[in-house]
Amino acid sequence: MCGIVGYIGKREAWPILIKGLERLEYRGYDSAGVAIMNSGAISVYKKLGKVSELSKFVKNKSDKNISGLVGIAHTRWATHGEPSDKNAHPHLSMSGDIAVVHNGIIENYLSLKKVLIEKGFKFKSDTDTEVISNLIEDIKKSAKVSFDEAVRLALLEVVGAYAIVVLSKDDPNTIVVAKKGSPVVIGIGKEEFFIASDATPIIEYTDKVIYLDDNEMAIIKNGKLLVKTIENEVKNPYIQKLEMKIEELEKGGFPHFMLKEIYEQPRSIKDSMRGRISAKDGMIKLGGIECHQDKLINAKRIIILACGTSWHAGLEAKYFFEEIAKTPTIVEYASEFRYRNPVIYPDDLVIVISQSGETADTLAALKLAKEKGATVFGVCNVVGSSIPRATDAGVYTHAGPEIGVASTKAFTAQLTVLFLMCIFLADKKEVLSKKEIKKLLIELENIPEKVEKALLCNDSVKKIAEKLKNMKNFIYLGRGYGFPLALEGALKIKEISYIHADGYPAGEMKHGPIALVDENMPVVFIANHSALYEKVVSNMMEVKARKGVVVAIITKGDTNIKKIADYCIEIPETTDVMMPFVASVPLQLLAYHVARLRGCDIDKPRNLAKSVTVE
Ligand code: AGP
Ligand code: GLU
Repeated sequence: MCGIVGYIGKREAWPILIKGLERLEYRGYDSAGVAIMNSGAISVYKKLGKVSELSKFVKNKSDKNISGLVGIAHTRWATHGEPSDKNAHPHLSMSGDIAVVHNGIIENYLSLKKVLIEKGFKFKSDTDTEVISNLIEDIKKSAKVSFDEAVRLALLEVVGAYAIVVLSKDDPNTIVVAKKGSPVVIGIGKEEFFIASDATPIIEYTDKVIYLDDNEMAIIKNGKLLVKTIENEVKNPYIQKLEMKIEELEKGGFPHFMLKEIYEQPRSIKDSMRGRISAKDGMIKLGGIECHQDKLINAKRIIILACGTSWHAGLEAKYFFEEIAKTPTIVEYASEFRYRNPVIYPDDLVIVISQSGETADTLAALKLAKEKGATVFGVCNVVGSSIPRATDAGVYTHAGPEIGVASTKAFTAQLTVLFLMCIFLADKKEVLSKKEIKKLLIELENIPEKVEKALLCNDSVKKIAEKLKNMKNFIYLGRGYGFPLALEGALKIKEISYIHADGYPAGEMKHGPIALVDENMPVVFIANHSALYEKVVSNMMEVKARKGVVVAIITKGDTNIKKIADYCIEIPETTDVMMPFVASVPLQLLAYHVARLRGCDIDKPRNLAKSVTVE
C-alpha cells in the first residue's frame, strides 16, 4: 500500500521527493502530498489525485515555499477516511510542529484519539495517521524529551502496522524513520540520505541501502545515522548493495505484479483481519457494519452479488454463512440479477463484493437491490470507490492495490473479511459457543503462516507447469469448499494462459465432463484432507481409469493420493473451512507458471480490463 519518500542532505529536496513519488506510482494510490522543512517552518502541500496534479497545483501557487534540504512525501492508498485533500498525507500535529507520513494501519487509533481530544487536541482529518503526529507532539511537550525520544515513546503506545517518516520543526536537521509491518528502505549517499517504501526511488542516487527490521527506528541527524529498536537497544545496521534493475524493483524484484501479489497474501490476509479480532477473547469488531448490524443479525436470507473472482469468494461465503452462521445464503452474478425481476424481502440482507468497487454490473445490481428496499453491505478493496459509496455499510479488505488483472490477493482478502462477517453473525445469533468462536479465530490467525508455507510449493508447481504447458484444456474439480476453488482455479488459467478450462463440483463429473477425459486432459483436484476426502479420491480413480492426467492438491504428508495422482502439490494441514485460503496459492501459481511458459502477457491479458466499468 502507498508510497513513502524522504530526503535529507545538501540538495533541494522537492524535485527528489516528486520524482520519488512518481517512481512509486506503480503501487497504486489516490492522493499525494509533500512536506518541506524551510527556515523554521514546515510547509505542506497535498492533493487528491495524481502526483502530476500535486505538482501542477504547487506550480500555480504564488505563495509556495518549496525550497529546503529536508522533506517527506507520500502517495496514499486510503484505509481510514475517504480519499480527499484533507486526508492525504503528510499529517501535521495540531500546532504544525510535527509532520508524519505513514504507510499501514494504526489499530488503536480511536482510543489514542479519544485521549488526545480529552487533552485538547483538535483533528483535521479522518485518518488513523493523524494520531501519530499529535501523540508525538503531546509526548515531546509533556515529557520534555527530545524529538526522536518522543517518536520512540509514541511508538510504544501504538498498536498496528506502520512505516513512518517524521519531521519536527524544532529539529530542522533531523528525520526519524520507523518500521513495523510495512516496508521502508534507507539509501545512504554522500552526506545525504534517501528514504522510501522500496528502493525504486533510491537506486539512481546510491546502491547502498539499509532495510529496517520490524520495531526498529533510524534517527538521521546532522549527517549521521543511528539505528535502534523502539525498546531503545542500539543496532549495528547491515548495509546492503542493491543489485536490481529499476524495472525489477517496481515489482519488488518479481517479474510480474501477479506473482508479487500472490506472494503478498500472508500480509494482505493479516492486514484484512488487523484490528478486527481478538482471538484469545473470541471477539470480532467490524466498525463498518456496526450501525446496521441488526439487519445482518435478523436477516432471514443473505443475497450475495458479484462478478468473476469476487463471485467465487461469494460462493465460498455461502458455505461459511450456512454452515457456521446458519443463515440461508444465495449467490448470484450481478449481471444476471440486474436484468431479472428478483424478489427481495424486507428481512433479506444483500452483500456486494468487488475488488475495484467500480464494476458496472455489481454497481447496477446494488442500485436495483436498494430500489427494492434492501439494505446493502459492501466488501470492497478500494476505499472511496463507487460501490462502497453507494452501500449502507461495509467492511473493506485491506489487500492493498491489486495491479495484475488476474485477481489473487483480493480473493483471499475477501475470504478473510467474509469469514469475519460470518463469525460475527454466528456470535450475535448465538449459534456458536465462545469456545468454538475462539477456536475458529485462532485458526484464522494461523492462516497467514500457513499461506506462507503453501508458497513453498512454487518450485514443484513450476515443474508441473513445464509438463502441462501445451495442453489444450483443463478440468478443475472439488467438493464442498473445494468447489468454488475449482471454479476460481479454472478462471485463473483461462484468463492468463488462454487455455480453455472448466471448474465443476467433483460429484458432477459423471453427469457430463467425464466424456472429455483422456490422456490429453489434465484434471486438477482439490483433494486436501476434508470431510469429503474419500469421495474426491473416488472421483480421482474414475479419472485415472480413463487415462486422465491427475494433478492433486493434497494435504502435506498424504501418501495415499501420491500413489494415484500423476502430480501432487502439498499444502499445510488446516480445517475444511480454512482450506480455500491455503489451496488458492497452488491454483494461482499453476496458472501463473503455465502462462509464463506460454509467453503470455500475464499482468495484462488480452481482452481484459482490471475494472470492468462498462456492462
Ligand atoms: C479476476 O481474476 C478477474 N479479472 C475478474 O473476474 C474480476 O474478479 C471481476 O471483473 C470482478 O471485479 P471486481 O472484484 O473489481 O468487481
Ligand atoms: N492508514 C493510513 C490512511 O488511511 C495510511 C494508508 C496508506 O498506507 O496509504 O491514511
